[in-house]
Amino acid sequence: MSERRVFSGIQPTAGSFQLGNYLGAIRHWVRLQETYQAFYCVVDLHSLTVPQDPAELRTATMTAYAQILAAGVDPARSVPFVQSHVAEHAQLTWVLQGLTGFGEASRMTQFKDKSTRGGAESASVGLFTYPMLMAADILLYRTHAVPVGEDQRQHLELTRDLAQRFNSRFGDTFVVPEAHIVKETAKILDLQDPTAKMSKSQPGGCVFLLDPPKVIAKKIRSAVTDSETEVRFDPAAKPGVSNLLTILAALTARDVETVAKAYQGSGYGALKADAADAVLAFAEPFAARVRELLDDPGELARVMADGAARAREVAAPVLATAYQRVGLVPAG
Ligand code: TRP
Repeated sequence: MSERRVFSGIQPTAGSFQLGNYLGAIRHWVRLQETYQAFYCVVDLHSLTVPQDPAELRTATMTAYAQILAAGVDPARSVPFVQSHVAEHAQLTWVLQGLTGFGEASRMTQFKDKSTRGGAESASVGLFTYPMLMAADILLYRTHAVPVGEDQRQHLELTRDLAQRFNSRFGDTFVVPEAHIVKETAKILDLQDPTAKMSKSQPGGCVFLLDPPKVIAKKIRSAVTDSETEVRFDPAAKPGVSNLLTILAALTARDVETVAKAYQGSGYGALKADAADAVLAFAEPFAARVRELLDDPGELARVMADGAARAREVAAPVLATAYQRVGLVPAG
């Protein structure tokens, strides 16, 4: 096992992960735990940056955690945990807020998007400081690589800047992390509008992994393609067909060109049917495992507590060093 560390986080907002979350993120988490010391976090504190329903947040956090395990994140090999269980995340965030410029934070495009959507006046201060909490997540584990989507690149740049700033002001404390952006399946597209990314905000074109198999199959079989008949991987000219090829290739561990060749002359029907089968071959046992985990909340809580304890072992001394370096007097 290498000593190199990987950290990633996912928000517990949706009840069910969607196919894009799995293929674009969680699948890579599972792979990376083979070669890295991996920390995977359900970032429930990040969910407090927008209005939340307490009962829903609790359920979503448990469900997200169960889904990470069901997808193959193995507590024997990596450290899956819940952000709020490790107080050091909130504590380091405060230190990093003092190092972040107001202007610098104002330039975060995700904040600009999210705050203008709901009206800038109603956006919370938490939404504004969200990237510093994310930076704390990463820096507490002296992380080397952070698997994230393209949309998080700017937050990762800020994290790198804050690590460098802290190190040069107060002495070498944090590892400056690298983004680990997976290109091929980084973008699974909406099945009804293959010009947009698959997103739970457009449920019609989005496959939720915990949905009934019939619903999943129907969504894939009714995916929008184009008026030709030729199966070819060409994301610009044929986004719908290419998206189905990407999904099928990822789930059957083949490359898209190989998969495309297999459908030459057979039309879109066969491709859709096989893509639906491949998704169900993953989703059905996945959903069964999630149900099993959620049916035993005592055991789930035990695994969560164990993850939190192991995360804290790494995070606590890093926070203590940071506190000491900035001039806080140790409590004991
Ligand atoms: N902001 C990330 C997202 O929305 C989630 C996240 C929080 C994260 N903390 C993180 C991702 C740390 C990577 C590392 O996708």
